[in-house]
Amino acid sequence: MNQHTRLDERPISLIDVAAQRRRLGRAIDDAVARVLMHCQFILGPEVRALESELAAFCGARHAITCSSGTDALRLVLMAWGIGPGDAVICPTFTFCATAEVVALCGATPVMADVDADSFNLDPASLKRAIATAKKLGLKPRAIIPVDLFGQPADHDAIAAIADAHNLFILDDAAQAFGATYKNRKLGAVFAGRKPGASATATSFFPAKPLGCYGDGGAIFVDDDDLAARIKSLRVHGEGVDKYDAAGIGLAARLDSIQAAVLLEKLKIFPEEIAARNTVAERYASGLAGLAMVPRLAKDSTSVWAQYTIRLAPGRRDALAATLKAQGIPTAIYYAKPLHRQAAYSGFPIAEGGLPVSERLAGEVISLPMHAYLDHPTQDRIIVAVRQALKG
Ligand SMILES: Cc1ncc(COP(=O)(O)O)c(C=O)c1O
Repeated sequence: MNQHTRLDERPISLIDVAAQRRRLGRAIDDAVARVLMHCQFILGPEVRALESELAAFCGARHAITCSSGTDALRLVLMAWGIGPGDAVICPTFTFCATAEVVALCGATPVMADVDADSFNLDPASLKRAIATAKKLGLKPRAIIPVDLFGQPADHDAIAAIADAHNLFILDDAAQAFGATYKNRKLGAVFAGRKPGASATATSFFPAKPLGCYGDGGAIFVDDDDLAARIKSLRVHGEGVDKYDAAGIGLAARLDSIQAAVLLEKLKIFPEEIAARNTVAERYASGLAGLAMVPRLAKDSTSVWAQYTIRLAPGRRDALAATLKAQGIPTAIYYAKPLHRQAAYSGFPIAEGGLPVSERLAGEVISLPMHAYLDHPTQDRIIVAVRQALKG
């Protein structure tokens, strides 16, 4: 077997967390060792340092770290007092956590459809979902747009609808921290809205563009009162100190070790975002004409949590099988929109149905995407996809 053949047969990762680990190795080990020395494992100095770095990175007044992206979403809904009788509008084409947190608060998620080009919440369907909620006797209180696969939702259009109906906006940027919308980073896109009426949540799950080595998340807000309520809720609703329970909250803090890891990763994050964009551009030119490649909305940048193409109906399984046989992994995000899943099928859906999400569920397929995907490996993927789709 010659060198060329061996390279061609190397297994490829969908998301290569180990490549970044190799690059950062010593720096992360040292950062973790410092926490092991000072032993302030919960909300230690690294957490405070990370919060100020994250706020500076995206331009938010407050960054509040917490135990996961799911808890980030949940803490904000709790801080707003969302509960039984309330409706929260969510896209159906998303990960379940988006709607799960609504149900956990006792409120009703109402599913809206997405736009076929961006995969993000469709403002027209959002309006219909608000009307549906009202007809059902629910009180619409909030919208959770999702910045799916790393690309920002249509935030100005969504905010205009939210303002007209006096709704909170909780941006689920679990997949998109670092992306920009009209030259503002996610976390700082709601600057002009009513104080306390908007928040952004993200996830540091290891596979996310900015991931830690366990679970973690963060919330970005500009309003001081809302920030104080969220900070209290993440520590059991603490009042003057942790033995004074002013409210009912969660144990939802970020560990200092995870903050130490994230501080090191944040240093190279802008470089990694640039590398992800290069990978996305190379896919777009390599696959144009054969598959529907993702299109970025005008004035938006993506962090490409996933690189998701669309195929004509019925072609996906064969492509996935052909690529798998060549050591190239793929994934389907999402084969079932939320309203087709057992836990969520009983919740209301927007008038007019959710036809775009239904269609996308049968057409999308995600290809390997990460900042360390080198050109020869990516070319191997592009050639394999082209051959499979032409054949
Ligand atoms: C859109 C979306 N929302 C929320 C979450 C939840 O984040 P976590 O896994 O950190 O709880 C995820 C994670 O995959 C997600 O993709």
